[in-house]
Amino acid sequence: MKRADVVFSGMRPTGRLHIGHFWGVLKNWVDLQDRFSCFFSIADWHMLTTGYNDTSRLQDDVRAMVLDWLAAGLDPAKCVIFRQSDVAEHAELALLLGMVTPLSMLEHNPTWKEQLQELAKTKAGLAAAGEAIHYEENKPGASYELRTYGFLGYPVLQTADILLYHGTRVPVGQDQLPHVELSREIARRFNNAFGSVFAEPQPLLTPTPKVPGLDGRKMSKSYGNAVDLCETSASLESKVKGMYTDPTRKKATDPGHPDSCPENPPGCVVYAMHKLYASESFVKARGEDCRAGKLGCMACKKDLLSEMSGPFDAFRKRRDSCKASDVDAVLADGARKARAVAQKTLDEVRRAMRLR
Ligand code: TRP
Ligand code: SF4
Repeated sequence: MKRADVVFSGMRPTGRLHIGHFWGVLKNWVDLQDRFSCFFSIADWHMLTTGYNDTSRLQDDVRAMVLDWLAAGLDPAKCVIFRQSDVAEHAELALLLGMVTPLSMLEHNPTWKEQLQELAKTKAGLAAAGEAIHYEENKPGASYELRTYGFLGYPVLQTADILLYHGTRVPVGQDQLPHVELSREIARRFNNAFGSVFAEPQPLLTPTPKVPGLDGRKMSKSYGNAVDLCETSASLESKVKGMYTDPTRKKATDPGHPDSCPENPPGCVVYAMHKLYASESFVKARGEDCRAGKLGCMACKKDLLSEMSGPFDAFRKRRDSCKASDVDAVLADGARKARAVAQKTLDEVRRAMRLR
């Protein structure tokens, strides 16, 4: 049975997704769609807050991401999947919420401060190296000026996303907690000024296991170390074969260090993947066998590959059953459902503010 809570979450359209996104976010969404009324939004306007200088790939990225959501198991019959910019009410509510949002709150937002610092460092580094600071301006995807109204207002837009659907639970990782706290604060300020229209959204902290990339660093598209959801069986095999293991093992009989060793503090990537794809008892036994030098890394990778092939076959099957036109239909249908709710909320908001 679905509960009265409404789950809202969003993702900026970054294109193809990898298994870090799956284990960190998508898997939780797929579980939630059976238990709650859920809205999942492709936050293309949020993408513009930092990526406004190059929108050439935006459409492709939106489509690729929706396809990955469907491949991962989000079901448009169970949840509402929609693109933010299809529902103009997000902009109107963001504007109205902006009226009760003090600048100081936004300026204290840790994400904003961090990103500005990052930018300052980049600029300082470039200046020290004698390079022109405007180098990034023609670089696709680069963000050069972040002191924009739009970027400062990121949390206001995000709050509008959530409140437009009377979202009460926001599944997020630890890093997004300050944003949800801002949303609560903005909802409270609105209610204080105009009567209780909104429930304060609560974060829904979901398990986010660590997913290393092929080389042991954090999995990230920009590092080129990702396992994508759309791998073929051949590309999956070659990626598993290339995973970084324990560099101290030369022979199968050398004692291994699956978790960590001085030469490789993050530990063996294959072992970390077993933790995601195999049973607890297998992981325990594998750790012991590895430490005892009872098997070679190649055999261990073969085991991993067979563990992963089931889930990847499932992704592939769902992906193959979708046509390009299906993605458009999902977005059109989602926009219609989202709009119906959003319009109703905005009517309440306008009345509460005596705009009507
Ligand atoms: N800021 C989120 C991210 O970068 C995306 C997002 C947009 C979102 N609107 C949201 C998340 C509303 C939760 C709720 O991933
Ligand atoms: Fe990693 Fe397996 Fe090799 Fe041990 S045997 S180092 S767990 S790949």
